[in-house]
Parts: sequence; C-alpha cells; structure tokens
Amino acid sequence: MSTNIRINGDRLWQSLMRLAEIGATEKGGVCRLALTDLDREARDLFVSWCKDAGCTVTIDKMGNIFARRAGRDNSLPPIMTGSHLDTQPTGGKFDGAYGVLAGLEVIRTLNDHGAETQAPVEVVAWTNEEGSRFAPAMVASGVFGGAFDLDYALSRADTEGKTMGEELKRIGYFGDQEVGGRKVGAFFEAHIEQGPILEAEKKQVGVVQGVQGIRWYEIVVTGQEAHAGPTPMKRRKDALVGAARMVGHVNRIGLEHQPYACATVGMMQVSPNSRNTIPGKVFFTVDFRHPDEAILNKMDAALRKACEDEARAIGLSLDLKEIWYSPPVKFARECVSAVEGAAKSLGYAHMPIISGAGHDAVYLSRVAPTAMVFVPCEDGISHNEIENASKDDVAAGCDVLLRAMIERANA
Ligand code: GLV
Ligand code: MN
Ligand code: MN
Ligand code: MN
Repeated sequence: MSTNIRINGDRLWQSLMRLAEIGATEKGGVCRLALTDLDREARDLFVSWCKDAGCTVTIDKMGNIFARRAGRDNSLPPIMTGSHLDTQPTGGKFDGAYGVLAGLEVIRTLNDHGAETQAPVEVVAWTNEEGSRFAPAMVASGVFGGAFDLDYALSRADTEGKTMGEELKRIGYFGDQEVGGRKVGAFFEAHIEQGPILEAEKKQVGVVQGVQGIRWYEIVVTGQEAHAGPTPMKRRKDALVGAARMVGHVNRIGLEHQPYACATVGMMQVSPNSRNTIPGKVFFTVDFRHPDEAILNKMDAALRKACEDEARAIGLSLDLKEIWYSPPVKFARECVSAVEGAAKSLGYAHMPIISGAGHDAVYLSRVAPTAMVFVPCEDGISHNEIENASKDDVAAGCDVLLRAMIERANA
C-alpha cells in the first residue's frame, strides 16, 4: 500500500468546527461537560460519522466509544487512536476533540484510498478525560488501563451528587462491553500542545516523549463562623484567612521547584459565603505537576507541612486528602520512533517534547505501546475559550498520525 496518502485537511477542519457547535460559547469556545446532554449530542454525532465511515461501533461500561475499521488480519490487536469529547467549563474547540476527529480522519482517508491495513484500526472517544465535572481526570481510560476499578470510577460524583454510572445510563452511553482486558497493538493520541513551546520554536509537530506526573489534593479548612462586626480580630478562627495563606504556600512551592514544577489552586468554595459572616469552612483543590517523581514527593511534604503550620497558627482544623496521583510516564520507543519518522518523512519541522497536561495516553501506556503527536496552539493558550490552532498545523499532526498508524498496523 502506498505510504504517501495524505489526510483531507478541509474535511478535518469542517468536522472540528461542526463538533464545536455543540456546547458553543459566546466567546468562541466550548462548554461540554462530561455526561451532560451536550456530551450525548457530541457522542451521537461522532457515532453517526463513524458508522458512515463503515466502522463497527462498540461502547463499554465506562461509556468509552470504539469505532473499528477491519484489517486484513482481524485476529491482530488493533492499532488505536483517540482522545476525548468532554471539555472544561470554559474550554476550547481543540482540546480532546482534535484527537478524536484526527482519528476519524485517518479512517476516512484510508477509506478514500481503499487502503487496507494488516491490523484493524480503531478510533476511541474516552469518557470524562477532563475531570472537571467528575474527579479524577482520565478516569475512564484509567479503568481501561487498569489504574482504577470500574466500581470506583462509576461512583465518582459531581458537586450535585450525581454519579458517573447514573449519568452514563441517563444519556444512554452505559455500554455492554467490559472495560479493557483486551490487547491493543499500539495507542496514539493527537493533541494540541496546550503550552507555548512548539509555537516559540517554530515547529509544526511535537514528538511527545512522555507526560509529567500529576498529584491532586482536596483540602478542607474548618474554623468558626462568627459575626463580622462584634468579633475582635484576635478571637477569630477565620477559615478563609488560613486557606489564603495556604494558597500562598502552594504558589511558593511551585516557584521553589523550578524550572519544571507547576502548582495551582483552581477551585475554592467558601462557606457560608456571606459578606458579614467570618468564613467557617473553605474547600479548595491543589494540582501539582513535575516530570520527576522525587521532586513531586518533596512538593507533597512541603504542602503538608505548610498547611499544618498555618492551620495550627489560627486554630483551624485541617483535612488534607490526596485524591489522585498520575506518575510521570515515558512513552514506548517504537511508537515515539514511528511519530518521529513520520514527521521527518513528511518534512514537518518537529522536536521532542514532554507533555505538561495529562492525557488518556498516560493510562493507555500501561497496557499498550503508546505515543502522542502534538501540534502548536496559538499563544500556548488552552483550557480557555480563546484556544486556537491553525488548519495547517492540525492537518500536519493528522498526517503524522496517519503515517505512524499505518506503519504500526503493517509492522
Ligand atoms: C487534564 O486535562 C489535565 O492535564 O489536567
Ligand atoms: Mn485533552
Ligand atoms: Mn483538557
Ligand atoms: Mn487533558
């Protein structure tokens, strides 16, 4: 089979723009939280496109959707690609959607050329990658990769107490297939970089070598509610003052472990959230990232000490839980080489890169040789409605994906 076939960049772009209409926001972004009605609409559209492309579609008990294009030898494990259809509350058009639709474009291109592959090819849409409605992130690919139990994942609840299991059933995507437990020949994920490096280095393709580690914490600080007027400053047990000091420490810990550490408090709830009541309780989250596990351990110890010290100083009680740890990942040599070789043979400027964001590929790498293809995004901005990428770059990444998958499917 000719290895010179190329994807259709116009068709890929049109599909991306059509999908972005589902949950479109006024500022040009997308809000399509996992397992909402909008997520169902996006899934339905994706499934219809896959069926139009002649794929066999199956759905597992985590709502992961697999669309399979037969190979010459269907006893071989599939070469798989994909990403996610859910978004952040103020997400963009590309994070996740690109990886799913690039996979579909690979299949459509193989169809255009009547090209057979030795192994079957599958494109997958993983459920709830973002973790913004149901924590943790990447939970459904995590079950597939053996990192989480199915029952644990299905019982994850949103802030209203609705569980993933209930919501999967409600939107009609609680499938009949077991999650994982089958061989995957290789997994590739195309994604926008979500950072500024490729754009700054003027490279069209990032050959992703691995993904940095992520630790997520949930912290509850409890003091005492009291009247904002009669209560003297010295007698207060103000939970928000304690939490604010802890946020300062989170930022300090990130700055103390440069060049690579990232430390973020992205979510905070103040109770009772009334202007003339001293806050009695604060809930907040911490997201720590670093490519080196040993440094993440140091950051963890520093966080615990700082929070305990600040709580003691004000007389607050502290409940600090680590709810998720995704260790740093190094991708498989043969898949990274397939991506690099494809970028080289296609003549795209490329460079090795480490992913700062988490991806479903992290958990797939536990059960299959895995790699990722990155393309630049404008000003390195993602998890923002203004997230943008160029049509040429997303086409280039998809061409690399196609070539790498053909290589692995015929290996
Ligand atoms: C997932 O999107 C993450 O990197 O937090
Ligand atoms: Mn993503
Ligand atoms: Mn994301
Ligand atoms: Mn992500």
